[in-house]
Amino acid sequence: MVKMPCLTFNLMENIRKKIVAANWKMNTSLAEGELLIDQILPGIPKSLNCTVIFAPPFTHLSMLKEKLAGSEVHSGAQNCHEEPSGAFTGEISVSMLKSLGIEYVIVGHSERRQLFHESNDVIRLKVDAVLKAGLIPIFCCGETLDIRQTDTQNIFVRHQLEECLFHLEKGTIEKVCIAYEPVWAIGTGVTASPEQAQEMHQYIRDQIALKYDKVTSQLIHILYGGSVKADNAKLLFTQEDVDGGLIGGASLNAESFLDIIHAAC
Ligand code: PGA
Repeated sequence: MVKMPCLTFNLMENIRKKIVAANWKMNTSLAEGELLIDQILPGIPKSLNCTVIFAPPFTHLSMLKEKLAGSEVHSGAQNCHEEPSGAFTGEISVSMLKSLGIEYVIVGHSERRQLFHESNDVIRLKVDAVLKAGLIPIFCCGETLDIRQTDTQNIFVRHQLEECLFHLEKGTIEKVCIAYEPVWAIGTGVTASPEQAQEMHQYIRDQIALKYDKVTSQLIHILYGGSVKADNAKLLFTQEDVDGGLIGGASLNAESFLDIIHAAC
């Protein structure tokens, strides 16, 4: 008998197109953001073999959508509120993002978890709100340095997956993009080695396979984030289970971000 499953898995691995997402965080004025987009867009290859996403501050999203009109490049927000509307001064709902045509929302970034005390419970609700609106959550997970030093990172990340994602049905979980971002590597200049990244990405995929099934686990994009730069991107992106990157600092410079896109595409 022909061994169909193997063939199926190989095909699925091939259809996981790389994703490169820019997380600008709280950086750039509107004019600076506009200039940056103007510098980057013309350098993105016309026949894109990867998905490029910009997640600038909320105030820049309208400008971004105008700039991206007619291009293959995608737009994302850095956060959202879990409720559809109401008395939540200073917050932005998913339907507001949707009304602008935003496609992706970063959820549970470690800066949101640490500085704004977002718990797994709140992040789960945000994931649900984003999916319900038909947008794609970029769900962030990852351990702090002290957890890595005690070699308990796998249990820690598994816990984040269980509490934030594993309530989702098969058929829905595939719509989530996961970003593994070790907190000790974010903005520090210290990158996880390609082996460390691959090890955790494979672990995450294995956990999804255990909870759902292997085919489902092969469909899900798992991005790496944490001091990805032009000179380390290629090696990270060629790891079997690394499907691209979530890029902070290096996405704020046109040349370095374009180099990272080229490393992925
Ligand atoms: P960094 O940030 O690339 O500056 O380390 C990544 C992130 O926080 O998403």
